[in-house]
Amino acid sequence: MLIVTANSKGGVGKSTIAVHIAVSLYDCGFPTALLDTDKQRSSSQWIAEVEPQITVRVADTPENCLSAAQELIQSHDFVVADAPGGLEDLSRTLLILAHLAIFPISPSILDVRSVEGATAVLRYAQKINGGRPDGILVLNKMRTRDTISQELKVGAPGLGLKVASSVIRDLQAYRDVAQQGTVVSRFGRKGAQAAADMDALFKELLGETVNNMTNDRRQKLANG
Ligand SMILES: Nc1ncnc2c1ncn2[C@@H]1O[C@H](COP(=O)(O)OP(=O)(O)OP(=O)(O)O)[C@@H](O)[C@H]1O
Ligand SMILES: [Mg+2]
Repeated sequence: MLIVTANSKGGVGKSTIAVHIAVSLYDCGFPTALLDTDKQRSSSQWIAEVEPQITVRVADTPENCLSAAQELIQSHDFVVADAPGGLEDLSRTLLILAHLAIFPISPSILDVRSVEGATAVLRYAQKINGGRPDGILVLNKMRTRDTISQELKVGAPGLGLKVASSVIRDLQAYRDVAQQGTVVSRFGRKGAQAAADMDALFKELLGETVNNMTNDRRQKLANG
């Protein structure tokens, strides 16, 4: 299964969410790969520090991206692809290949405006692919007492994309783990609040898939 984090806006949390989801899948026992298609290489460098057992590949062109994604999908249960900021050819290629597209946005008017572009590109991929991928908005960097965060929460369902009900709070732990080469679930008490948010998001987006795949495996083992 290919999961992609994408958006036209930079700095919304694509790499943060990609790395955390990849590590959660790995921690559930699945062979997992991360495909970094952003020239900044933030997620590939980060994940190599967190978990060397996760396969890491980078790709700079749509052609490389296509072949790397197809190869990784053959040999891993899950491939998490981190798209660059922008919805150009690389992101479009990933979206056409993906089963699930995660579009993080943070509480800013520019991020809200980016949703229209994300929706258009998602529909384009879905038309080519007979309805795939599923697309979902994830509200990131949400602040409890902040007016724009509250407005975003109320207004997001009207933006034309499905919205995850789990939101990710704006917490220092995310910045710290990126700097220290770890993830919030491995950051002890300092990461506890952030880990609770990420875990809820993971379960909402992938809990059923993970359970089904685990049951399939058990069944196969039982059948010898
Ligand atoms: N929920 C959060 N709370 C606090 N800081 C966050 C949160 N999510 C991400 N950040 C921080 O925001 C910055 C941007 O996050 P990230 O690199 O994941 O975004 P991105 O969409 O991948 O950016 P780019 O477009 O540059 O690739 C980073 O410094 C990251 O640590
Ligand atoms: Mg990034």
